Amino acid sequence: MAAAPRRPVAVVILAAGQGTRTKLDRSKMTLEICGWSLVRHVAETSRALKPERIVVVVGHGREAVEKTLDGVPGVVFAVQKEQRGTADAVRAALPKLRGFDGTVMVLNGDVPLVRSETLRGMLRRHRRMKSSASVLSTVLDDAAHYGRILRDAKGGFVGIREAKDCTVEQLAIGEMNTGLYAFEMKPLRASLRKVGSDNQQGEFYLTDVPEILRAKGDRVAAIACGTPDEVLGVNTLAELAEAGQRLRFRILEDLMASGVIVADPATTFVDRGVKIGVGTRILPCTVIEKDVVIGAGCEVGPFSHVRPGTVMKDRAEVGNFVETKKTTIGEGTKAKHLTYLGDAEIGKDANIGCGTITANYDGRHKHRTVIDDRAHIGSGTVLVAPVRVGKDAVTGAGAIVTAGKDVADGDTVIGVPARSLGSLSKPASPASSGATKTARRRRSKQR
Ligand code: UD1
Ligand code: MG
Repeated sequence: MAAAPRRPVAVVILAAGQGTRTKLDRSKMTLEICGWSLVRHVAETSRALKPERIVVVVGHGREAVEKTLDGVPGVVFAVQKEQRGTADAVRAALPKLRGFDGTVMVLNGDVPLVRSETLRGMLRRHRRMKSSASVLSTVLDDAAHYGRILRDAKGGFVGIREAKDCTVEQLAIGEMNTGLYAFEMKPLRASLRKVGSDNQQGEFYLTDVPEILRAKGDRVAAIACGTPDEVLGVNTLAELAEAGQRLRFRILEDLMASGVIVADPATTFVDRGVKIGVGTRILPCTVIEKDVVIGAGCEVGPFSHVRPGTVMKDRAEVGNFVETKKTTIGEGTKAKHLTYLGDAEIGKDANIGCGTITANYDGRHKHRTVIDDRAHIGSGTVLVAPVRVGKDAVTGAGAIVTAGKDVADGDTVIGVPARSLGSLSKPASPASSGATKTARRRRSKQR
């Protein structure tokens, strides 16, 4: 494959609009699907273009939008003070592109399903055709509220017409503007000055730019390479739900293709970016949120809620009504029923009995719980953090291990508050060792 000429690429993402069609008073850009805000999906996907910078144009609800992009490499922000249209938004990005000479990919922030391969394909074709401007288009059965691509008798690109400005004949056109564009920097800069606001909405439309460039004699193209399932623009809450559903199934398909067994895709929710190893089984009614890493040969569900910051090492299992958060679960460790594990570090081959709770929050601060290798946590145990249960240690059913009262390696504690069985039964020591043995026997059976 011939390498594309190495002209630099910059990305501009338009995210300053309020999104009045959602009826919410927050920016629609902050709405999430599969764990990330709409604009974050676009920003993360655009990284595949290896841009030298990603300029996100913010305005409405600015701080909240910026926060959803925390940690995305290469992102800088430009502010559009008043939302006067998409061309005006690109103008607001220009100060952040000072000195840049290359291709600018302008992406609407509300097109979260676009694939990185599609963006790369579009950039390649834009450059191969040596165009000043390229618009990514797709043909839909009904192009509804989208801008229409107008072509001449020979099929050459003429312009984009917003649905609100279309004639009845133009509304019948199925080829729509996805809101994803490639521009060469210099012609873009020059043509933005010429965009007016003489249209139904009285806004400065970016969609006028290709037509302005064509009138000047520049090469302009509409590239039909997006697929209908990835160009959905999210303007309403119904479209948000639809985009969320589509992305969810795409994530599950990718996981299954990589060797993850998903018993019931219809009731399985996995956020974008979650890593799951080969041979892991996800059972029905399970939610796995962002920033989770699950190893190979694990089992999750049915009815598990795996929250951010959870790491499950190989062969770990969580089952019915188990919730985990910021917790590492060691190799081969099992927590199968009715359990909350938060801010915990659990070693390997431990058994977390039914109804175990890590009481991690004292009303002000979160505290950590450590459960070491092969520990056996009895049913209904409450571990009040900060606390540590040592290697091979045992807690009896219903024990409440209070903060700071660590359980030593190999020890057994029972009761409320939990005390070492050894210390409780000093006068009748044979019973104590008998009880410990019983607990250990139980442990090996309960698995
Ligand atoms: C836009 C296109 C339309 C296309 C559709 C694809 C225009 C004029 N129309 O319509 O042709 O079919 O996307 O989804 O571009 N924004 C700003 N500042 C503004 C206005 C908008 O940053 O002043 C941002 C919004 O936050 C949004 C994006 O630009 O992310 C697009 O704006 P939106 O109002 O959703 O445009 P559409 O009506 O969907
Ligand atoms: Mg839109």
